[in-house]
Amino acid sequence: MTGIRLEGIVKRYGTAAAARIDRLEIGDGEIVSLLGPSGCGKTTTLRIVAGLIEQDEGDLWFGDRLVNDVPPERRNAAMVFQNYALFPHMTVRQNIAFGLEVRRRPRAEIDRKIDAVLELVKLPGTGDRLPKQLSGGQQQRIAIARALATEPDVLLFDEPLSNLDAKLREYMRFELRKLLESLKITTLYVTHDQAEAMVVSDRIVVMDKGAIIQVDTPHRVYRDPASRFVAEFVGTASFLEGRIESWDAAAGRGTVSLADGLSLAGRGHGLKPGDAAVLCVRPEAISLLPPDQSGPGDHAGSVDAVVDLGEVIDYHVRLGGWTLRTRTIAGPRPGGPGDRVAVRLDPERCYVVAG
Ligand SMILES: Nc1ncnc2c1ncn2[C@@H]1O[C@H](COP(=O)(O)OP(=O)(O)OP(=O)(O)O)[C@@H](O)[C@H]1O
Ligand SMILES: [Mg+2]
Repeated sequence: MTGIRLEGIVKRYGTAAAARIDRLEIGDGEIVSLLGPSGCGKTTTLRIVAGLIEQDEGDLWFGDRLVNDVPPERRNAAMVFQNYALFPHMTVRQNIAFGLEVRRRPRAEIDRKIDAVLELVKLPGTGDRLPKQLSGGQQQRIAIARALATEPDVLLFDEPLSNLDAKLREYMRFELRKLLESLKITTLYVTHDQAEAMVVSDRIVVMDKGAIIQVDTPHRVYRDPASRFVAEFVGTASFLEGRIESWDAAAGRGTVSLADGLSLAGRGHGLKPGDAAVLCVRPEAISLLPPDQSGPGDHAGSVDAVVDLGEVIDYHVRLGGWTLRTRTIAGPRPGGPGDRVAVRLDPERCYVVAG
């Protein structure tokens, strides 16, 4: 039973802090993702947990065991890399056996475990192949099987799906989530792909410039972003800048007055009248209607551009001095480029953050 706790962890390269984690706790059996743009410190943090990099400051706990000075091979953590890192001259069985042989497990046990993990990743019967005789997705599954064979307390993934093509990557997210859910092994998962983090994780840690910005369930990271950075990084949104006009702190909602005179409602917290604020309007907050179907509270706008993506249609809509982006399931069109439309905003899906 092993949760992970990072306390006051700092790693510097020169004077710059590559990672600065004040506190992060990953529950026993929990799947947590580190999500953020390139260079924000995800790999650095993961490697500190693995023991491949030593932190300059702070404590790392596996359960109630302080592991600061425990070498990687004695942390009982297994890591899966983006490039699979399979030994090319060894068969699948030999690849999986490697970690078990290093640990001097009996042959019969090794064979049994290889069969079990190959079954788990749904690749029984590939044991005698070389990695090059497998597809990229299959190789990645073997890398996962190899990690699982040693029965680690902690699983660490660094962008494990990034080398796969888009379709397979999307499929593998769901497969990996199912597998991890069934294993109940504490997992730290690094990705810069927000959709992947949403599918795979119980909780997401959003990072920027080495620090944690928000830790929440995927649902809350999307629906209750802590800042414009989070709203921008997770999902898409249009950002309208202004000031808080009125605010009901208890209800966590209010209105933002925008520079062009528009006043729009949204949800948020920690704000008060007069504060600089940004209204983050998610695509699904916006409905477009022909002008003759306009209702109370709707705004007059016009269609700027229509992008037909097949199953969905993207609209760029002018509203006051702003361009909003929305998306509809392909169907009857409210209007084409240049047409006037009624813009209806759902304040439950507009999020107000500090400006
Ligand atoms: N060995 C090193 N020497 C100097 N600087 C480093 C070293 N390793 C990482 N850094 C710097 O530390 C910061 C964090 O790097 P890290 O690899 O953790 O980012 P990341 O979030 O994993 O990014 P990516 O998504 O591109 O993999 C970056 O600014 C990087 O340039
Ligand atoms: Mg990285």
